[in-house]
Amino acid sequence: MSLGVDYTRHEVRQMAGYVPGRQPLPGSRVIKLNTNESPFPPSPAVGRALTQVLVNSDLLRRYPDPQSLDLRRSAATIFGCETEQVIAGNGSDELLRILLDTFVEEGEKVAFFSPSYSLYPVLTRIRGGLAGALPLFQDGALYQPQLDDTKLFFLTSPNAPLGFSFSNDYIRQMAKDLSGILVVDEAYADFARDNALSLLSEVDNLVVLRTFSKSYGLASLRVGLGFAAKALIEQLDKVRDSYNLDRLAQVGARAALEDQEYLRKTVALVVQERQRLAVALQELGFTVEPSQTNFIFVTPPTAYKASALYSGLEKAGILVRYFSDPQLSHGLRITIGTRDEMDQLVITIKDLLKNGDRK
Ligand SMILES: Cc1ncc(COP(=O)(O)O)c(C=O)c1O
Repeated sequence: MSLGVDYTRHEVRQMAGYVPGRQPLPGSRVIKLNTNESPFPPSPAVGRALTQVLVNSDLLRRYPDPQSLDLRRSAATIFGCETEQVIAGNGSDELLRILLDTFVEEGEKVAFFSPSYSLYPVLTRIRGGLAGALPLFQDGALYQPQLDDTKLFFLTSPNAPLGFSFSNDYIRQMAKDLSGILVVDEAYADFARDNALSLLSEVDNLVVLRTFSKSYGLASLRVGLGFAAKALIEQLDKVRDSYNLDRLAQVGARAALEDQEYLRKTVALVVQERQRLAVALQELGFTVEPSQTNFIFVTPPTAYKASALYSGLEKAGILVRYFSDPQLSHGLRITIGTRDEMDQLVITIKDLLKNGDRK
């Protein structure tokens, strides 16, 4: 092994890297319900827009627009803000990293709830910040943490992997209590009743993140958006790589964004399936967390182990997400798929409950 490893920063050597959900090879015959992608392809307008670029391949010789201006202008029009209030990222994951690099000095505290998105502590450690995981609940109610020493708070709303949303009253209060920046990671907000974008006009330490990886069916293109006051976006923009979005990503994401009718239609289908799956699993004795997202977190009937059910589903060619974290190991997170996929899932679960090992 190379001695060069010794030069690795202490923090990086000590940490475990982020482990993404399994991505089976293209062509594998699995029902993939483990990383919350859309069960539907993106709007047909995306294919047309990407083809336009590819048939004119001379365009690929040139660098893309470093500002992603067309995409940001469309976002500003659709979400009712100014273009200068929008930043585009190579997935919202890149925006998380940019936020840390912009606001967090070494040793400063970055907080988030646990459970929530498990990338936050990893990126925080890479930055050299102090990662503080806080409990979501205290005495049966949502926890209202003390935040006067926190530089950045990542709030996943709706929460992943549990699925519930924080109210705008809660978010407003948290922004007020915080002596830093509140980032509301709204990766799943298109499936929810409410979102925090309307708070931008009244709260100046707020950043709202969106992604094209879930509701827009574009996880492959890697595009996310950040919304904040102009003065904040100006700082974030200095930290961003100049060409962080390639030409195809800019063009494809813009086409998807402009087809809001397709978004509404596909989101409505997912929400409908979410409800149908919740009822079917409740009838089988599962506890189902109420969800404002494109997944549900479910706990099998007491006689059955979530880990065994996970393995049984995997053997049957259905991938869901099991977390070994003791806070979550009693349940499974299941992405909402197509109607046929959900029917197949319920049939397989019925079989596993009938024939599977009990605790
Ligand atoms: C809460 C949350 N934030 C961000 C992301 C990442 O989004 P992107 O694909 O835009 O990087 C995910 C993906 O699973 C997520 O669950």
